[in-house]
Amino acid sequence: MIYILGIETSCDETSAAVLGYEKNRIFVLTQVVNSQINLHSKFGGVVPEVAARQHIKNILPVINLALRQAKIKIEDITAVAATRGPGLAGALMVGWETAKTLAWLHKKPLYEVNHLLGHLWSFLLPPVGESNLINPSFPFISLIVSGGHTELVLVKSSNSYQVIGKTYDDAAGEAFDKVAKIMNLGYPGGPILSKRASLGNSKAFLFPRPMSKDKNFNFSFSGLKTAVLYKIRKLAELSDQQINDLSASFQAAVVEVLVDKTIRAALINQVQMVTVVGGVSANQNLRQVMTAAAKENSLLLRLPLMSYTGDNATMIALAGLMDYYLGKKNLAKKFLQFAIKPNLNI
Ligand code: KG4
Ligand code: ZN
Repeated sequence: MIYILGIETSCDETSAAVLGYEKNRIFVLTQVVNSQINLHSKFGGVVPEVAARQHIKNILPVINLALRQAKIKIEDITAVAATRGPGLAGALMVGWETAKTLAWLHKKPLYEVNHLLGHLWSFLLPPVGESNLINPSFPFISLIVSGGHTELVLVKSSNSYQVIGKTYDDAAGEAFDKVAKIMNLGYPGGPILSKRASLGNSKAFLFPRPMSKDKNFNFSFSGLKTAVLYKIRKLAELSDQQINDLSASFQAAVVEVLVDKTIRAALINQVQMVTVVGGVSANQNLRQVMTAAAKENSLLLRLPLMSYTGDNATMIALAGLMDYYLGKKNLAKKFLQFAIKPNLNI
């Protein structure tokens, strides 16, 4: 059995996890996620400097807890995998430099992980304490929807990816957060807004479906956000029901565009499987509508477990495993000189 210690600090979650691998099976020994949501909520969003300082406080206790829970000593870890980018520079630096230090100190290989590829593989992960065969069928289309990214990726093999579309402006999660902020719903807006949406009428307001008629696979959500803002200005004082209806109508517009483009990307590229990953893949309405559309088009849909939709180190350990151990890539021994890459792309 090989053991990978995953480390993730790209935004506001300090996370460490231990992933086991043997004969095509992966085992999640443990996942520790320390969320800073409460710390940032009073500011209405993530404050990068505050996040970095909190990661510094959290990182060693989180790693130690993960090792204790997994009942494994750092000496028995096979390799360390950590997020090198994309993300907030100060936040990334804490996890990446800690990973470098541990790898150097204990003479372990270090795997650099692209956070987006962590999300991309997250649908393969079994629950903590359980194991799974890793058997993705290629090619497939991955919709990565998070607070910082909205991308459609054609995945041809475990190390061949082609970004076929992305957002021109706001990410889907960012749009959820901003619309929630306009309605003073609190932070992070996505989960709160989606709860309100489940109580509302999605046909109460007709919002635009940006770029839905375009032949490409790109997205744009900032105009939709502005349309909601203008509607709210006209309504003056919002009743609870109006907030629910606005939430449901906004969510329906986002979900429709995401689902339509993903299904079209799958059909045009003649793939048989689609996946939806990242923070916004926790959205129940998106899950339901995507499930129905995939079924209607005879496509297989794979979704991550809810515990792996948000940022976590288990997906980072898995991406490191896929990229380096199985993909036979090698990070140069000079990794101590390597810095974070806040703008890393797929
Ligand atoms: O992947 P993630 O944890 O962090 C990034 O890499 O960005 O995604 C966080 C984003 C936030 O914008 C959050 O509001 C959104 O995912 N999100 C949701 C839901 N849960 C989280 N958006 C809509 N509905 C949800 N249920
Ligand atoms: Zn993320």
